[in-house]
Amino acid sequence: MFFKSIIVLASFASASMAAPATATGSSALCDVSSATLSIPSGVALPAPDFKATFLGLGVGTQNYTCTSGGTYTNVGAYAEVYQLCSGIYKSPIFEDLTSLTFAIWSNAPSSVSASELIELGEILDPSFILGEHYFVTNPVTGSGLAPKWDFTSHAFAGNPAAYVVGSKVTDVPAPTSKSDIDWLELTNLTGTLANEIYRVETRGGQPPASCVPGSPEIYIRYTALYWFMGGSF
Ligand SMILES: *[C@@H]1O[C@H](CO)[C@@H](O)[C@H](O)[C@H]1NC(C)=O
Ligand SMILES: *[C@@H]1O[C@H](CO)[C@@H](O)[C@H](O)[C@H]1NC(C)=O
Repeated sequence: MFFKSIIVLASFASASMAAPATATGSSALCDVSSATLSIPSGVALPAPDFKATFLGLGVGTQNYTCTSGGTYTNVGAYAEVYQLCSGIYKSPIFEDLTSLTFAIWSNAPSSVSASELIELGEILDPSFILGEHYFVTNPVTGSGLAPKWDFTSHAFAGNPAAYVVGSKVTDVPAPTSKSDIDWLELTNLTGTLANEIYRVETRGGQPPASCVPGSPEIYIRYTALYWFMGGSF
């Protein structure tokens, strides 16, 4: 899986255009229940209450708009979530996985969008895609945005229940760099794909410190590990 995602990303670095996606498929799902999320000392994320059900490599963008105060505010994200299998979590490469994929993704031509990246992955080999991550209107309050992980088109194609909308519980600065988005713990707001979601080992995704009010939405590339704990799948 790791090499496949590198191939997808590497081919993106040289591809100029991707044709529209036609393929869909379902992943061969692997058992990651023995994978343990290790939280580095000094990172104030609580330990998970559930075992890992899915382990995903997220590759995409964080979206920001410029406020009237001249700072960027997060208005969503769009990412493909690739399945991590084969005991990769036991390998030393695991720690470097988001760095490696970020090195490729962040160097892809600026014309390449997250949706083109997703299309290409789906054309080349949809079988190692778990699903997509994006934002929706908060389904409980009906206002504001909430993050969703949606496996209904890939890992559980055709099963409308295969999603989770998360509610942020803990948000800590990335221990790696100021340019990396925060590490998070979220719980299930709606959906049964997971009871808890962790976003860790983030690379990139932070906006510039200031902006000119009225400037357009920006898309900042990032990679992250997503841990999906518990759930009913
Ligand atoms: C976020 O950005 C992606 C492009 O990377 C876009 O396709 C998507 O619609 C955007 N979502 C939101 C909520 O702005
Ligand atoms: C969310 O997870 C908790 C367990 O952590 C469970 O009791 C609850 O029913 C779940 N909520 C939904 C909407 O599935």
